[in-house]
Amino acid sequence: MRAIQFSRFGNPAEVLELVDHDPGYPADGEALVTVEATPIHPSDLLTVSGEYGLLPPLPATPGNEGVGRVLEAGRGVSHIKTGDLVLLPLGSGTWCQQMRSSAEELVKLPDNTDPVQSSMMTINPLTADLLLGDIVDLQPGDWIIQNAANSSVGHYLAALAKQRGIKTINLVRRGGGVELQLNELGATEVIVDKGQDIPDQVKAIVGGDPVRLAIDAVGGAGSNVLARCLSEGGTLVSYGRMSGQACEIDPSLLIFRDIRVTGFWLLNWLREHGRQAMVQRLHSLSQHVAAGRLRAEIAGTYPLERIRDAVRQAQQSSRDGKVVLTPEAHW
Ligand SMILES: NC(=O)c1ccc[n+]([C@@H]2O[C@H](COP(=O)([O-])OP(=O)(O)OC[C@H]3O[C@@H](n4cnc5c(N)ncnc54)[C@H](OP(=O)(O)O)[C@@H]3O)[C@@H](O)[C@H]2O)c1
Repeated sequence: MRAIQFSRFGNPAEVLELVDHDPGYPADGEALVTVEATPIHPSDLLTVSGEYGLLPPLPATPGNEGVGRVLEAGRGVSHIKTGDLVLLPLGSGTWCQQMRSSAEELVKLPDNTDPVQSSMMTINPLTADLLLGDIVDLQPGDWIIQNAANSSVGHYLAALAKQRGIKTINLVRRGGGVELQLNELGATEVIVDKGQDIPDQVKAIVGGDPVRLAIDAVGGAGSNVLARCLSEGGTLVSYGRMSGQACEIDPSLLIFRDIRVTGFWLLNWLREHGRQAMVQRLHSLSQHVAAGRLRAEIAGTYPLERIRDAVRQAQQSSRDGKVVLTPEAHW
């Protein structure tokens, strides 16, 4: 069996290696699982380069989520059996062919689930769900604004907001088919950022209605653009740093317009609310994923042996969708 490993932090396209890996037999309460699909997220790349909020001891196998099929269940395991499709535990080092896991942490999925789409369910749809539901108390008809709306979190967020009657203004940095796709997902308005005065444009869209939440995946000057679009007392939540730069916010917005700034990290939410709360939310999101109401575009799928090509594509600017490793499909 094989797995991806890194023994030093650095550029993922240089430090990741394919190594032999023997997961061993499942002990009591464990299951042996073949990994069917596991995505490459910006946070995976930041982890390998040593820039993420939580770093593993080295050597380590990257991969924070995925979907697998149970090969063998150990003694005492009753809720899953051989052949079941399961969500792999968050942060369990999923870029491998097979892994052993505590069976309790495997969430069974319906048989008809698309493994590639559901391999991304634990992190991004849940993040979008929580950004919408847990930062400010939004009501149907409220306006919110997000940047990097063409990201997978952005797509999930636009779709979930539509389902809840929340109106979204979606900033993207490029046009082409990007706006159309967002509109099809349920985005209310899409603005291509061409350096124009976005707050003026937003005012024209919402009329006198308030914009109570701004969702920032970019940082840098992008944070200030969002903060300027908020109504007095509105909240900006930072959850990503795609620009690699510190959030810039004009202090006048904080002082005179009472703009609030906060952060969101899924891991902190999980630490506070526990695994059971996560599983409950995942059950409801999995219905939407299975029905195709929540989906991510796929830019490419790769076997483990092409890991460096896969991460190079994942690092590309203006890539159309997620890059997913599909270890079993190619062996
Ligand atoms: N805090 C949390 O718990 C949490 C959880 C999940 C994800 N995240 C974060 O959420 C963000 C999105 O993740 P994802 O997996 O959805 O990403 P993704 O699908 O890989 O997409 C990345 C997006 O970022 C945009 N982008 C890249 N650089 C940019 C820049 N300098 N300015 C503006 N936009 C830029 C890209 O725009 P183009 O389409 O134009 O290339 C693309 O739409 C990441 O920062 C990730 O770390 C955070």
